[in-house]
Amino acid sequence: MKFNSAVLALAIFSSSASALSAAQWKSQSIYQVITDRFARTDNSTTATCNTGDGIYCGGSWRGIINKLDYIQNMGFTAIWISPIVKNLEGNSADGESYHGYWAQDIYSLNDHFGTEQDLLDLSAALHGRGMYLMVDVVTNHMGYLGCGTCVDYSVFNPFNSESYYHDFCLINYDDLNSIKTCWEGDNIVSLPDLRTEDSDVLNVWKTWITDLVAKYNIDGIRLDSAQQVDNAFLEPFETAAGVYVVGEVFNGDPNYVCPYQNDVSGVMNYPAYYWIRGAFESTSGSISNLVNGINTMKSTCSDTTLLGSFMENHDVPRFASVTTDYSLAKNAIGFTILADGVPIIYEGQEQHYTGGDVPYNRDAIWYSGYSTTATLYTFISAINQIRNQAIFKDPTYLTYKAYPVYSDSTTIAMRKGFTGYQIVSVFSNLGASGGSYTLALGSSATGFTAGMQVVEVVGCTLYTVDGSGNLQVAMSGGLPRVFYPLAQLSGSGVCSAVTG
Ligand SMILES: *[C@@H]1O[C@H](CO)[C@@H](O)[C@H](O)[C@H]1NC(C)=O
Repeated sequence: MKFNSAVLALAIFSSSASALSAAQWKSQSIYQVITDRFARTDNSTTATCNTGDGIYCGGSWRGIINKLDYIQNMGFTAIWISPIVKNLEGNSADGESYHGYWAQDIYSLNDHFGTEQDLLDLSAALHGRGMYLMVDVVTNHMGYLGCGTCVDYSVFNPFNSESYYHDFCLINYDDLNSIKTCWEGDNIVSLPDLRTEDSDVLNVWKTWITDLVAKYNIDGIRLDSAQQVDNAFLEPFETAAGVYVVGEVFNGDPNYVCPYQNDVSGVMNYPAYYWIRGAFESTSGSISNLVNGINTMKSTCSDTTLLGSFMENHDVPRFASVTTDYSLAKNAIGFTILADGVPIIYEGQEQHYTGGDVPYNRDAIWYSGYSTTATLYTFISAINQIRNQAIFKDPTYLTYKAYPVYSDSTTIAMRKGFTGYQIVSVFSNLGASGGSYTLALGSSATGFTAGMQVVEVVGCTLYTVDGSGNLQVAMSGGLPRVFYPLAQLSGSGVCSAVTG
């Protein structure tokens, strides 16, 4: 009965196949969802959500299920949802807990977002589409409405006594010890800082994350406030989770951020965030800082292909709050998706949302009407699609480390992928008023050879590399150009008018 046991083995394998390892996350592309602000159970596109008030607006897990086509049709293979556990109730000058970062009971779900069954259904709906679920988790602190020292610890479940916490002090970010042992937050909402260096605290979190991942079939974890927990907490926590963990280390210095990869597989690429924004958010941005930065990350981090690659999230002002130029936005987004690491696009980027600092960067997505013809929606679809195709044709695309092959004061060209399967992308910060000109990129830069046919997938234009091996790139209106070999595109549906 050898055949039967093989079938059985396969069945066992596939039933547990949803938990993704770090290596398997490399091929994903993530859409970041703040559950309260993405979609409502009633599918309303008019329900009031005054972002400045910072209160619950009614988004739900059921709402996300209803809008998975919208996400998947943009080329995403996974979603990261905001924290799911029960938070403090009540309003204050800091608003309500709609974002989910102020936990009080880690054993109960936040019922503003739905029921256990709703979350199980969301997980199943994703897996049914071949998509994956990443959940945001906060292990550094709990949340309490009130001044620093007036916390009533008995309200927390677990960690219901003062002994689980560091003494009150607000973090001074110039002092590493303070980052680890003082409290985030302010004197309006207290965020009592857990002693994650203590084994009893660690053990609670280990058991909790093992159970949570199993119960909801979670495929990956985004760990909030990773730099504020004890470093020795991270590795056992990820092991207990059994899935990829990507930590938030909100700092722009590679020498500060990269060492976290010794303790946890993934780290958000905040250094690159600053350089991408710096390069593209104005026509006088610094390309050279971006070029140097990409090279520095490669030499400093143990594995840039496991970083989270982003240029917006719920903690920073949106790109379009700084410039309304669509060409600049396309360059920044394209660079994010085609860089090393797991691309993460924050809800609303596809609709060119313009909100500034917290809480204004958390506008309700339903106001967009979920337009699938919006300029950046279709742009993101195109870039995700070519990345997905490059991975499909040659999975080593993911481990090939992207590097700048050309740059000048307004241009950076990047290559990622082995010869014959590489994506060569050209980014500019000239903006929409940039003129038309030709940029010649030689074979040594692109890896493309004389006579080779490549497709520019943003404009769906067929190019032939000239007899000297130069790719004569037609730049115009500050738009990015993204090239991929024609030979790898037939039957893919990408730019079918020129690829057949
Ligand atoms: C919301 O949309 C979903 C998916 O399109 C649909 O199945 C559901 O019935 C809608 N709900 C309401 C209340 O209209």
